[in-house]
Amino acid sequence: MSRVLIVGSEGQIGSQLSVELSKTIDFDKLFLSDIKDKSKTDFKYLKVDALSYDDLKKNILDNDISEVYHLAAILSAKGEKVPKKTWNLNMNSLFNILNLAKEKIIKKVFWPSSIAVFGDSSSKNETPQFTDKEPITVYGISKLAGENWCKYYNEAYDTDVRSLRFPGVISYDTPPGGGTTDYAVDIFHSFKSGKNYNCFLNEDTTLPMIYIDDAINAIIKLMKTSKDNLRIKSSYNISGFSMSPKMIADELKNLNKEFDVEYNSDFRQAIADSWPNSIMDNYAREDWDWKENFDFKKTVNEMIHKLNIK
Ligand code: SER
Repeated sequence: MSRVLIVGSEGQIGSQLSVELSKTIDFDKLFLSDIKDKSKTDFKYLKVDALSYDDLKKNILDNDISEVYHLAAILSAKGEKVPKKTWNLNMNSLFNILNLAKEKIIKKVFWPSSIAVFGDSSSKNETPQFTDKEPITVYGISKLAGENWCKYYNEAYDTDVRSLRFPGVISYDTPPGGGTTDYAVDIFHSFKSGKNYNCFLNEDTTLPMIYIDDAINAIIKLMKTSKDNLRIKSSYNISGFSMSPKMIADELKNLNKEFDVEYNSDFRQAIADSWPNSIMDNYAREDWDWKENFDFKKTVNEMIHKLNIK
């Protein structure tokens, strides 16, 4: 059985992925790592700087790790405030992992990409796997470059690096922090605390989304698929459903008529406008049987339930 390391375990995806992986991996074979001193969990935890190749290599060798989920990144909105830091973290941490895979120290890697690889020139509706890509954020540029490097390493060095282009991820446990799709999580927390929500995107801004359970299932499914089935060597388009702020606001208003949402768009509007309205994920469906379990309604109901909203 593989010994597994999650890099960036304390973030939105990592905190749920560790719980799900722990159901099938022995306690002493699953390792979490992040830049923080401690984990929120009781799993085995290593404080590792993903920007230090030596630190990563030592921890991976010491613990005989063969499979890595590399999730550490700065997201789209925060990235615009700190462009150089974003480029540095997003690219150089990936190179560290790719080089460990090239050296065959790591056998298998998962790394998330994003719909941020698309830009104004990409087709907007049912955006296909292959289309023009001119990302307008540093985050998007780093993810597009990263995808191409994954493909390059897979082809030139026979590494096994797998990736998904995530849309906005809606989660109840750990919030995203710094993304353009964060409103879709924040609005539930405002509602729960009895406050009206000030939305930073216009009410009809439609973006592709995925519920966290589906995002985690997709990662696990992709990693279990035989490498021979994977036609996409860069990153797979994937999506659960599409929605706008108004759609969630209407659902929440149905629960409490007092709840109100104000729309005051900021710099994140241009980012959202450059991204697809919806995604065509046929390659994922054909190559590894991807299918979402959560549509818009089911996601809203699940968030209400998980956040214990009365
Ligand atoms: N949710 C991410 C963001 O908004 C997209 O990958 O930055």
